[in-house]
Amino acid sequence: MSEGERATVIVDGMALANELREALRIEVASIVARGLRAPCLAVVLVGDNPASLSYIRGKRRACERAGMASREHDLPATATQHEVESVVAELNADDSVDGILVQLPLPKPLDASGVILAIDPAKDVDGLHPENAGRLVAGLPGLRPCTPLGILEVLDRHGVRLEGAHAVVVGRSTLVGKPVALLLVERNATVTICHSRTRDLAGVCREADVLVAAAGSPLLLKGDWIKLGAAVVDIGVNVIDGRQVGDVDFDAALGRASLLTPSRGGVGPLTITMLLHNTLAAYRRRTGA
Ligand code: GUN
Repeated sequence: MSEGERATVIVDGMALANELREALRIEVASIVARGLRAPCLAVVLVGDNPASLSYIRGKRRACERAGMASREHDLPATATQHEVESVVAELNADDSVDGILVQLPLPKPLDASGVILAIDPAKDVDGLHPENAGRLVAGLPGLRPCTPLGILEVLDRHGVRLEGAHAVVVGRSTLVGKPVALLLVERNATVTICHSRTRDLAGVCREADVLVAAAGSPLLLKGDWIKLGAAVVDIGVNVIDGRQVGDVDFDAALGRASLLTPSRGGVGPLTITMLLHNTLAAYRRRTGA
């Protein structure tokens, strides 16, 4: 290690996720042991996007291992807006379903926001319905999006101090950038949200004690954009020449960041874990169990 460099802790998201999933499994087992039904997650997939198929496989496996029920509703890519929203309406009305997740992105020309609006907010385990998004803004309890919850879990589990820290979020998506910024503000961080029009992105990133890369742009954040000792969470999943890379140049960040999540096996396993967590929370709220 050269002068000024420091040891970087590489986050093992799978180990962290397994620990949390075991706690969830025990909670579900104790519910079932009382003669109650297990929580149930319904996943709606439209079309056959390979990345979506792979995510859904992971979600199904995680549900099974946690002792939760999972249901899949597959529609062809040619499904109409009305057909997709009708499936959601059926799941809303089905008392044995606690969580509904519509896998994104939806094939064109379907309108994702219309479909999300059709989900019962009490079953919106993605935390994307405007009611839940509004609750987050208002500081009211509600279902929060899974990746932002996973990011906070990684930071907390590694003892990263958020109070008073400057957190820079690169990316302003509804799924990650905006909600994680709000969760960080809730934890008393000073938050800057950056995006494609931000002037001097490198300069803003260099000010970050906590840097969240959620831009969906391969290797966008260079090593010298990272302040020495910063905690860096990269949720980018990009493929270059058949190799998975994040939004952060991982190799260049080693020796600069104090904490770093890899693109593979970083936050991803925690996103699924938080989906299970939200499904259990929705179940408890709905059934009073
Ligand atoms: N596609 C990629 N990530 C997600 C997610 O967290 N939720 C949904 N619904 N779709 C996704």
